Amino acid sequence: MCGIVAYIGPKQAYPILIKGLQRLEYRGYDSAGVALLNDELRLFKTKGKVSKLKEFLNGQHLPGTIGIAHTRWATHGEPNQINAHPHFSQSKSLAIIHNGIIENYALIKEELIKRGYKFESDTDTEVLVNLIEDIRNNEGVLLDEAVRLALNQVVGAYAIVVLSKDHPNTLIAARKGSPLVIGIGKDDYHVASDATPIIEYTKDVVYLEDEEVAIITRNQELKIKSIKNKDKTPYIQQLEWNLAELEKGGYEHFMLKEINEQARSIRDSMRGRLKAREGIVALGGVKEYEQKILKANRIIIVACGTSWHAGLVGEYLFEDLARIPVEVEYASEFRYRNPIINENDVIIAISQSGETADTLAAIELAKKKGATILGICNVVGSSIPRATHAGSYTHAGPEIGVASTKAFTAQVTILTLMALRMAQMKGTIPRTRFMHLLHSLDILPDKVEEMLEDDSVVRLIAEEFKDAGNFLYLGRGYNFPVALEGALKLKEISYIHAEGYPAAEMKHGPIALIDENMPVVVISPYVGIYDKVVSNIREVKARNGKVIAIVTKGDTTVKDIADYVIEIPKTEEILVPILATIPLQKLAYYIAILRGCNVDQPRNLAKSVTVE
Ligand code: M6R
Repeated sequence: MCGIVAYIGPKQAYPILIKGLQRLEYRGYDSAGVALLNDELRLFKTKGKVSKLKEFLNGQHLPGTIGIAHTRWATHGEPNQINAHPHFSQSKSLAIIHNGIIENYALIKEELIKRGYKFESDTDTEVLVNLIEDIRNNEGVLLDEAVRLALNQVVGAYAIVVLSKDHPNTLIAARKGSPLVIGIGKDDYHVASDATPIIEYTKDVVYLEDEEVAIITRNQELKIKSIKNKDKTPYIQQLEWNLAELEKGGYEHFMLKEINEQARSIRDSMRGRLKAREGIVALGGVKEYEQKILKANRIIIVACGTSWHAGLVGEYLFEDLARIPVEVEYASEFRYRNPIINENDVIIAISQSGETADTLAAIELAKKKGATILGICNVVGSSIPRATHAGSYTHAGPEIGVASTKAFTAQVTILTLMALRMAQMKGTIPRTRFMHLLHSLDILPDKVEEMLEDDSVVRLIAEEFKDAGNFLYLGRGYNFPVALEGALKLKEISYIHAEGYPAAEMKHGPIALIDENMPVVVISPYVGIYDKVVSNIREVKARNGKVIAIVTKGDTTVKDIADYVIEIPKTEEILVPILATIPLQKLAYYIAILRGCNVDQPRNLAKSVTVE
């Protein structure tokens, strides 16, 4: 969603800000803008892409060593130039960029209108900057104090940076419920909504906590205080990602790069955690909570989108291997349905970005009710890992494509490790089977590698079905979530309507849709209730549906019935979701490319959904 970049230091700010905005493009946005302070405070914004803003400013003299910039994903007011950020205060002496939503903005706006303020945009952000200006003028306080007092009046979520014409050496930043990172360079500061625009300048960062205000002054130490006016000591952390991981590395799209990285990302997610020969599974981050999980009434997995699908695979894993009851909830539903939770429940929150607003809210709710909260996240230092009691990072590396790919397989890898560890502790599977599963997991990245080498069949199928209007994805057991994930991938990047279903449910409704124009993707590996899935395929074929089947290498039964087959290497049933998802990611990718879609930044979508 919206992206923030700000800079103060000896260098020219504009090139740094524009590059930063480009790094944040993956988050999704519909307008962009920049404010620069030299002798005057100047503001430029355009509807559309950062490239348009760049083009608009091309050739202009844009001096200034302090500035703020923003990509906006519309919430209040349509995506147009006026509503784009930064926003000026009425006197044009302050400029602000803001992520999040000020929920009581209408009330504050009414008050400000009574006091003579006029508003140009429909945004809550313009209300906030004028509130800051009003407090500064009427209470005669310094800028940081005016920001602090204003933030005490607002209800909602925010990450803001304020730039003042009268303070050419200071930026004020603050956050609540929306992330903000401050990069500390040798003689400069970078601020951004995530670390991607900062990595190339410094690895030293401070993640602001909720309700903290940072006073960032040229050539001075960073100062942080709470909005209740308590001084805080900045906690400096080291970024682990490197610049190369943020580049396309020769690929045309981040999505393809990330799909092809999965042998590596799965290996990295297991590194140091799995010692197959010794029979050791050790997730250091949750070690202290193992007994709690073992004794839990149940595990509740909360997540959204693709992470929710990983959670569904987790449900099969924990119940099957460790015999622990699991519920999987959409975080957005969980948070509003007054769930029954107590201190004997363990919540596992799954999130690639670690910033998803609904997942964060679900965590807070469960925490209040006394549950233990564990996290499985990809972005180190993001909000969810900081809100949980403990957790495991996925180590998939930065995921820039909006469609989640390598994060999913890494999440499922971590869930598999957790479930195996619980099974080991509880003794719910025999030692020989346990050792065999560890070995199969250990060699899984090699199978992923093998699979990624040749995608000619997937390309051929993509060519054949690129003009389809609908797709149905079917799977059973461990592969039901894979069907959901395959359908989600296709719809989000190709805009083809697709539905995932448990294969046996098809005859209770979706079967009515099947005719010679309906492609049906069936995940039918030679594991579990294979025969039942074969019967489901026959049901589709009997109605002339076109079957694209994901099968185990060497399968002949399905090959004889299906129109197309995509082979995956043989593995254990519990590990099939990791392998079977990958060709579905590729199928979605190639179909989207053939349809001319922007796969890395599909329309209307944001990479991290930081508002409700
Ligand atoms: O960052 P998160 O994993 O919490 O994000 C959850 C969803 O927003 C995300 O998975 C979304 O569904 C992706 N676009 C899926 O490709």
